Amino acid sequence: MTADTKLKVLEMKGITKKFGDLSANNNVDFELFRGEIHGLLGENGAGKSTLMNVLYGLYQPTHGDIHVKGKREIIKSPLEAIDLGIGMVHQHFMLTQSHTVTENVLLGLKSKGFFLPFDSAEKKIMDLSKKYGLQVNPKAKIWQISVGEQQRVEIIKALYRDVDILILDEPTSVLSPQEVNSLFATLKSMVKQGLSIIFITHKLDEVMQVSDRITILRDGKVVGNVKTSDTNKEELANMMVGRPLITSFEKGSVEATKNILEIKNVRANNDRNLIALKDISLDIKGGEILGIAGVDGNGQSELAEVLTGLRKMLGGKIILDGKDITKLSTQAIRNLGVAYTPEDRMNIGLILEYSVSENLVLDKFSSSPFSKGLFMNQSEIDKYAKKLVSDFGIRTPSVDVPAKQLSGGNLQKIVLARELSSNPKLIIVHNPTNGLDVGAIEYVHQTLIENRKKGAAILLISTELEEILSLSDRITVLYEGELMGMVPRAEVDIEKLGLMMGGSKLDSISGESKGEQR
Ligand SMILES: Nc1ncnc2c1ncn2[C@@H]1O[C@H](COP(=O)(O)OP(=O)(O)O)[C@@H](O)[C@H]1O
Ligand SMILES: [Mg+2]
Repeated sequence: MTADTKLKVLEMKGITKKFGDLSANNNVDFELFRGEIHGLLGENGAGKSTLMNVLYGLYQPTHGDIHVKGKREIIKSPLEAIDLGIGMVHQHFMLTQSHTVTENVLLGLKSKGFFLPFDSAEKKIMDLSKKYGLQVNPKAKIWQISVGEQQRVEIIKALYRDVDILILDEPTSVLSPQEVNSLFATLKSMVKQGLSIIFITHKLDEVMQVSDRITILRDGKVVGNVKTSDTNKEELANMMVGRPLITSFEKGSVEATKNILEIKNVRANNDRNLIALKDISLDIKGGEILGIAGVDGNGQSELAEVLTGLRKMLGGKIILDGKDITKLSTQAIRNLGVAYTPEDRMNIGLILEYSVSENLVLDKFSSSPFSKGLFMNQSEIDKYAKKLVSDFGIRTPSVDVPAKQLSGGNLQKIVLARELSSNPKLIIVHNPTNGLDVGAIEYVHQTLIENRKKGAAILLISTELEEILSLSDRITVLYEGELMGMVPRAEVDIEKLGLMMGGSKLDSISGESKGEQR
């Protein structure tokens, strides 16, 4: 790094941000130097987004102050942040689908924005695109372009406003491995040209790969600030989680049995009546975990919904343990031993007015040992609920409080705990660890492995490639409603997986390895 690195472009001092009684940020100090990529690392809920939302003028800090380029500033809105040279790309993009790239870049520009000649706007976009290696098509409508390109549009939108500090909130969660690499190349070229970048992540590999320095947050507090070259993943994990991570676990080999699930030529539409599943065929044996990787929005939710009777199919057949369940209701499918935890666990599978313990036995109320004749066996229910609460680390004052008093992450754990503990034949999990803390993630993974040992067939749909790789026996990729090919875990090649996530079919990728399976 050059001497420039010593120029402090930003200093946040003693930042506290309270939401009611919760301190999302607690006396946080954060500094950013010119020309650096600064990783802001922490688990879900550590307070990363809150801290950056304070910087971007979306929240006012409860205490503390902010200095930008040496001057104390009170940042009351994103517009003021942008005026100070601070841009932010959020986890969820804020683009309007029916407008073009150029229109979106101009949207919200003060005054003259829309009256700028489009040609000159397009030229400036192309210049930025070239300068930083951000490939976009200015004339394309947002709905026509990939998620990766949408992200590049968000970045260009910030750069168009001449910011020199760019905040990226978990930017890689929507990208394929190749897109991640090209994003990292872009970030490195930006800092070479004098920008400064704050890169928010909970992924250790990424922060090691791209950052110059790292600040680690845990429970709203700074627990470390290190130069990337002086640290390693183990040390970072320790700081982030407060204990060492179980980096790899022995999943053991299980003799896969007969086909539990067979999907044949399934087609279905999405909620907007556009084709979401084009012609899906696959099968999963008992004792086997099939991982479906891919960027979200490529048919994953629709596939899970079709399998659980929540969505009508246009055609095809689903066989569960030899029985055709194509036309069965959700309840009938559940009764046959299918467990499902959807991506959106908040709206499905919980009755918020019921207690934690009642939610944990929702599907078992009327069976032994939880019922005694016509009555519920409260002590058995309590005993069972308390065990799940402790196993899954559900944070609740007691098992008797209404579920609605719990935080989102803890509600997710209730659904997972219930679904994974009922000895299902087939388990369908969609992004099962999204939003969970590391302890709970390890527990969910172990529970899936245990169910595999017991002979369940498991369909693991996940955008977390590491999760797919560490759990699956076979892996496939869903892209625009089609499967891109099937690979046994032992033969996985990350490069190829990445290409498949970008829409290349396995058999079209390379002729070298002829032994490749479909
Ligand atoms: N607007 C809000 N109202 C209440 N609580 C919030 C709000 N935003 C965040 N929180 C809480 O603050 C904590 C930190 O959240 P966040 O900054 O989003 O963490 P991270 O980005 O590190 O995952 C979490 O416990 C979260 O539930
Ligand atoms: Mg966040």
